Amino acid sequence: MSLTLTAPETLPITESFLETVRETLPVVGRSRAVLEMLSLIESLAGTETNVLITGESGVGKELVARLIHQTGGRPGSYLAHNCAAIPEGTLESDLFGHVSGAFTGAVAARRGFFEEAEGGTLFLDEIGEITSRVQAQLLRVLQEGEIRRVGESRVRHVRVRVLAATNRDLVQEVRAGRFREDLFYRLNVVQVRVPPLRDRRSDIPRFVRHFLAGSVRGAETVAEAVHPEAMELLLTYPWPGNVRQLANEVERAALLTRGRGPVRSRDFSPDVRGEPARDRRAGTLREQVERAQRRIVLEALRRHEWNKTRAARSLSITRQGLIKMMHRLELPLVAPEENGG
Ligand SMILES: Nc1ncnc2c1ncn2[C@@H]1O[C@H](COP(=O)(O)OP(=O)(O)O)[C@@H](O)[C@H]1O
Ligand SMILES: [Mg+2]
Repeated sequence: MSLTLTAPETLPITESFLETVRETLPVVGRSRAVLEMLSLIESLAGTETNVLITGESGVGKELVARLIHQTGGRPGSYLAHNCAAIPEGTLESDLFGHVSGAFTGAVAARRGFFEEAEGGTLFLDEIGEITSRVQAQLLRVLQEGEIRRVGESRVRHVRVRVLAATNRDLVQEVRAGRFREDLFYRLNVVQVRVPPLRDRRSDIPRFVRHFLAGSVRGAETVAEAVHPEAMELLLTYPWPGNVRQLANEVERAALLTRGRGPVRSRDFSPDVRGEPARDRRAGTLREQVERAQRRIVLEALRRHEWNKTRAARSLSITRQGLIKMMHRLELPLVAPEENGG
């Protein structure tokens, strides 16, 4: 099967681009939301523009950054740095380097990431967390290509493509005066939004298979499959922690079964098992209605072994109506255990 099976006329993605995608992303989704993102990334192939990667925590921004680098116009090295929870001074010397004796402990001079990444790509994760001082220094690199090592007056020139990621709403941060507007525009030349997992539910079975395979460690006995009733739970849960949360749940559940068969609902954490009605994240009326519809549709499909004609009849809707609804609810179109890698 090839990715191009979904509406290729509106989402041009070439086979050669997909090859690179498959090498970089362990799980390549086929949901509309992912194909739209990949199509945008392919349109950036061969360019060197800075890209801002946005999306909730755990959606896979780091992997997307790597993909943008792999398909970009810079063959040079790729360096990634997380800017969160690093004291200002340390971050400054990480990024720009320092001379010996610049501060206590700075015994030897050191090149920063910008110098290390010369001619290549630097991925700055959690960019929303940097202080105004580092913001100003970053603006200078992006505008003039100039850096200064900490403790040195000499100006050095670098040519580095910057990819930045954040789970914050930077527009909001700019409005609140916490993030420089000029820096925002320099970073946000193109914005790639990585969709939350709940907007690409039809990819969930693929992720589950991948994480099940990955959870086979050493001599431990782990489950190799997920019971259909447990899969329904995974397909309806809103996943606030996205792919990271799904990976944790699946790996943990696979271990908990201790080899007594497929993963069951009871193997998931209370968060995932919990009744949505009691969940503080119950969501808007529309989200709750959709969740209920998802359950009803999945249950009808299961009862009829994913025969859509019969499932539709049992719900008193047409087969076409059911398929349309499955698209809208982001449900896989074939039984989860059948939808290929
Ligand atoms: N397409 C994917 N295939 C396989 N694993 C993925 C994919 N996307 C995300 N993950 C996994 O989900 C976790 C979170 O990804 P990460 O890039 O750290 O998210 P973010 O930076 O957006 O918080 C990682 O363990 C990552 O390997
Ligand atoms: Mg991250």
